Amino acid sequence: MNVLITGGAGQITYAFIPLLLSGQVFGLNVKINLILLDIEPCIERLTGVKFEIEDSNFNCLGDLTITSDIKTAFTNIDLAICLGGFPRSKDMDRNDLISKNFMIFKQHGEALNKYSSTNVKVLVVANPANTNCWIINHFAPNIPSENFTSLSYLDQERLSCLLQNKYSKSSSDIKNIVIWGNHSDTMVPDTTYYDDTIQLDTDDIHYIRNRGSNVIQKRGFSSALSAANAIQKHLHIWYFGSDNETVSFGVYNKTGCFNFPNNLVISLPVKISPGFNICIQNDLHIRPNIREMINESIVDLQKELAFVLSLL
Ligand code: LMR
Repeated sequence: MNVLITGGAGQITYAFIPLLLSGQVFGLNVKINLILLDIEPCIERLTGVKFEIEDSNFNCLGDLTITSDIKTAFTNIDLAICLGGFPRSKDMDRNDLISKNFMIFKQHGEALNKYSSTNVKVLVVANPANTNCWIINHFAPNIPSENFTSLSYLDQERLSCLLQNKYSKSSSDIKNIVIWGNHSDTMVPDTTYYDDTIQLDTDDIHYIRNRGSNVIQKRGFSSALSAANAIQKHLHIWYFGSDNETVSFGVYNKTGCFNFPNNLVISLPVKISPGFNICIQNDLHIRPNIREMINESIVDLQKELAFVLSLL
């Protein structure tokens, strides 16, 4: 499998590589030809990462390429994991962040469209993840929109952790928990389909929505270990299936499931059957209070999209 990681010299990539190359994503039988892309000023650091990958003798590594050249990176890939984005500095608002990332995801979308096969799968992690996923999808019209996802599994893992700690649940029992909406401070955690006697309170919701910022505050950097872990799970499930469990994926809601707008990339409950087949769980009933919160998150996504449309 030819796997491209953008932002190859970054912290999430560094934490994710051991998982990918030791078979924890696609199993031990799949050899990975790994391509790491980063911008020219990061090539020294990327070379150091290459040395370390070589010295690790990972079981699943085939060829290894490091590059800052877009064509080399995107040619003939089966999977793109998009970790490379412009990081948010203290003085930037969300629109500043979107304009910077617009240029990156436009360029990567055009490269996917030109150099990759129409079977390529894409996972977007760099923030704002849902909107970046919308942009890359928009600029790759040859590739079916079902092939694009954004990461909300990290938020789902955070919800699982909260349920374990606060409600004394065991990790293996917790299934069918859902994150709806945007990967932002409007996201909506929902336990209805796991245990409808649990009502998350305002503190619980605040905790999930702000966990990423709290990590940044304490660590000085955004989550990398937990992001890598969530990427591993997202991709493992996308490839091997969710075993009839409902999980949360950011997807293009092009058929307007749940009567949500049909032009957004949004986190929804899905089931996955093996071989990258995503089925949105459109028949789930949404509690009125949850729908009200999701509507706020949709407004948040629509604002981001309106800004992107102004840049087109
Ligand atoms: C996270 O959820 O940990 C990150 O998306 C936070 C961030 O802003 O990088």
